[in-house]
Amino acid sequence: MLEFDLDKIDLTKEPAIEEPQRQWYYIAKCREAVKAKSEEYQRPLTYCITTFGCQMNSRDSEKIAGILRQIGYVEVETEDADFVIYNTCTVRENANNRVFGRLGYAGKLKQKHPGMIIALCGCMMQEATAVEKIKSSYRFVDIIFGTHNIFKLAELLMTRLDSKRMVIDLWKDTQMIVENLPNERKYHFKAGVNIMFGCNNFCSYCIVPYVRGRERSRNPEDILEEIRGLAKDGVVEIMLLGQNVNSYGKNLEQPMTFASLLQEIERIEGIERIRFMTSHPKDLSDELIDVMKKSTKVCKHMHLPIQSGSTRLLGIMNRHYTKESYLELVDKIRSAVPDISLTTDIIVGFPGETEEDFEETLDVIRRVGYDSAFTYLYSKRTGTPAATMDGQVADAVANERFDRLLKEVQKNATRSAGREEHTVQKVLVEEVSEQNAEVLTGRLSNNILVHFHGPHELIGKIVEVYLDESKGFYYMGSLIQDNA
Ligand code: SAH
Ligand code: SF4
Ligand code: F3S
Repeated sequence: MLEFDLDKIDLTKEPAIEEPQRQWYYIAKCREAVKAKSEEYQRPLTYCITTFGCQMNSRDSEKIAGILRQIGYVEVETEDADFVIYNTCTVRENANNRVFGRLGYAGKLKQKHPGMIIALCGCMMQEATAVEKIKSSYRFVDIIFGTHNIFKLAELLMTRLDSKRMVIDLWKDTQMIVENLPNERKYHFKAGVNIMFGCNNFCSYCIVPYVRGRERSRNPEDILEEIRGLAKDGVVEIMLLGQNVNSYGKNLEQPMTFASLLQEIERIEGIERIRFMTSHPKDLSDELIDVMKKSTKVCKHMHLPIQSGSTRLLGIMNRHYTKESYLELVDKIRSAVPDISLTTDIIVGFPGETEEDFEETLDVIRRVGYDSAFTYLYSKRTGTPAATMDGQVADAVANERFDRLLKEVQKNATRSAGREEHTVQKVLVEEVSEQNAEVLTGRLSNNILVHFHGPHELIGKIVEVYLDESKGFYYMGSLIQDNA
């Protein structure tokens, strides 16, 4: 990856117009300001990022951290910091409420910490009503930006330092993908890689297309170069990120399928495991199933959100598949990759959901036997078609169905658990167990956790572990000693 030498940037000149050069100029400029403050305070300046929502947001937070680190801020865990950032989510109402709660807390901290800068970014900022609320009731916020202009953080910070006013920069949408900006990764052995941004599907309940803009695929060469760089740095597992990875490449100048991108990535030496998220059932191709069948690196796990088992509701949700076609797809995947782990997302209480519709969802859970499922109570998002649909389901009914759903998911997950008991499996060692410092925690290819005794040096390595006992959602295992 292209890196810029901050010391060589001439700050007496005007900033460049083109990106990313312009941002490297502002990073260098902010760095001077931060250095001066840090000399004045006789301590390093600190930052704290709190991330809400999905892996897209986590990845964005790494980019933000990369910029702040170049500027000279040092990361701390708590919000008692010089620069506090909330990277927000708005997919469900409770995500918004959590942000406002935390923001109130940060406001109190700021009263005791005058130089503190508070920034808000992410999906919630793309909604006018949320921003209005902040402008009127949370005047202490310094910087607001959105999902399309994260790369501009240094420039926005400079504007804030120069002006002392609330700086708001929000873009409705963008065609832009800025490459070669700083980057800070949370793990040294695994990494998320964006392959596309935005979403074009407009599922009728979902706010994401409104706050993340239209679908844009990154150029395959940029993706491959990033992954080659990661492999060189010792990364062994990558997670390809997109709202609908199965439609990757459709809008590129030279269209390319997701399956062929996977094949290209597979050739990169050093990368041992490839994961991806999320896979929309409507665009999942036979070509992809075939690549997964033959691949030695693509993990045996697929997250395949169903949302509802009722074909009638799936139509109203604008999902473009039926209960039957989904189940056929599952059969096809399972016959190609027999030991694959399937997980899903389910919404209960979508407008108009009847007891019969809900029974169809339970039926799918019984038939598929997911290893796990994220279950959500439908949340009304203003501006989406579903928000004004007739037949909004009463809370009591939705809650009662939610409990039944959870029980059904758990019952079926237990049924499918333990498939690998008494076998030797490859495990990527991720961390020291929270409960016991002598125990390591790692993941199988199918994403299931394993705990076993071993030395800390194994973190980041792929080792062989014998799975002694299934505990339902995880295994207890023993390290095969040749690894150590
Ligand atoms: N692009 C992914 C999903 C991203 S959002 C996909 O299509 O599979 C993650 C999950 O949040 C969705 O799968 C859905 O189950 C849930 N979700 C989205 N909007 C919601 C809403 N309004 N209420 C409840 N759950 C919602
Ligand atoms: Fe939302 Fe549907 Fe896009 Fe997923 S595919 S982000 S659920 S609109
Ligand atoms: Fe993700 Fe939430 Fe945005 S789920 S895309 S962070 S609205």
